[in-house]
Amino acid sequence: MTTTVDLAALERELLADVDKAADLGALDAVRVAALGKKGRVSELMAKLGSLPADERKAFGASVNAVKTKVSDALDTRKIDLEKSALAARLANERSDVTLPVRPGPESLGRIHPVSQVLDEVIEIFADMGFKVAEGPDIETDEMNFGKLNIPAEHPARQEHDTFYFNPKPDGSRLLLRTHTSPVQIRTMVKQKPPIRIIAPGRVYRCDSDQTHTPMFHQIEGLVIDETTHMGHLKWVLEEMCKAFFEVDAVTMRFRSSHFPFTEPSMEIDIDKGALGKPGEWLEIGGCGMVHPNVLRNCGLDPEKYQGFAFGMGLDRMAMLKYGIPDLRPFFGGDLRWLRHYGFSILDQPTLGGGLSS
Ligand code: DAH
Repeated sequence: MTTTVDLAALERELLADVDKAADLGALDAVRVAALGKKGRVSELMAKLGSLPADERKAFGASVNAVKTKVSDALDTRKIDLEKSALAARLANERSDVTLPVRPGPESLGRIHPVSQVLDEVIEIFADMGFKVAEGPDIETDEMNFGKLNIPAEHPARQEHDTFYFNPKPDGSRLLLRTHTSPVQIRTMVKQKPPIRIIAPGRVYRCDSDQTHTPMFHQIEGLVIDETTHMGHLKWVLEEMCKAFFEVDAVTMRFRSSHFPFTEPSMEIDIDKGALGKPGEWLEIGGCGMVHPNVLRNCGLDPEKYQGFAFGMGLDRMAMLKYGIPDLRPFFGGDLRWLRHYGFSILDQPTLGGGLSS
C-alpha cells in the first residue's frame, strides 16, 4: 500500500500551495492542510504503525523529509509575507503631521452659562482691582441678618423665605444664606480698609417659579476706604454693564429703594436698549452706601470709613445676556439644554480677547 503513495508528487503539490498562498491567512490554511493534526503529511505519519517493520524505517524517513521541506518552505514564505504586509502598512498608513488634532472629550464638554457669566464678571471686576472673596453657604442668623442691620423682627427676614436648620439646644438656628451679603461682614471683620472685593456664590430661598429657583447665584460687591462715594458706585456699575454686555454705552437708572444694610439704597435698572429693546427697564440688583451701623458692627469707625456695596443676580444676568427664557432648567442637569446654551471649554473669557466670543 505504501508504495502507491507518490511522495515526490505530494511534496511538489504542497510546495506549490505554499508558493501560491497570497497572504498570512492563506498560508496558515496550507500549513493546517499539510502539517495539522489531520493534515496530509500527518496522516501519512499516522499510518507508519500499520506498515511491515522492514518498510517502516525508510518510509518514515521519506515522509519526514517531505515534512521538513514543507515546514521550511512555510517558514520562509511566512517571513516574506510578513515583510510585504509590513511594507504595505507603511505605504498606506502614512501620517500627515500637518493634519489638525482629532477632537477629544474636552471639546465635547460644555461650560454652564452660570459659570461662563461668573468667569466674565470676575474678569471685569479683577480688571478694576477687585479681589474675589468667599463665605460659607451655611450661615448663622447673626451673619446673614444681625450684623447686616436686619434685626429679629425686621420684615426683610420674612421676605427672604429662609431655609432654617433645626434649632440647637441654645435655641439658635443655622440657615442657608439668603444672599451673599454676609461675605461683606466676613471680609470687614478680618480685613482693614481699603477693601475692594466681589463675592459670588450660591444663595437659597424657599421660592420656585419661571424666574425663581430655591437655589440661585448672586454676586456681591464691597468697596470701603475713606473717600469712596456714590459717584464711584455708579461709575463701577456702569463700566461693569458696558463690559458685560459688550456694548459702548448703557443707559442705567438708579431707583431709590430700601435695604437695611445701605443708606441711601438704590435699585439698579438697565435700559434693554443695549439688548435691542429700548424703553424697557430691567432690574439687575440692589446697591447703596454701606450703612454706618454695618461698619460699626464690623469694628470699623463710620466717621473714618465709608464705601458702597451692591448685589446682583448672576443667573438673571446670564438669562439676559444669552436670551435664556426660563431659570429652572439651569439646574435640571439636562445635557441637551447644556449643549444648546453651554460654552466651549477652550474659550476663556478675557477682556482682551472678548468675553463671549
Ligand atoms: N442682599 C440683597 C438681596 O439679596 C441685594 C443687595 C442689595 C446687596 C443692596 C447689596 C446692596 O450689597 O447694597 O436682596
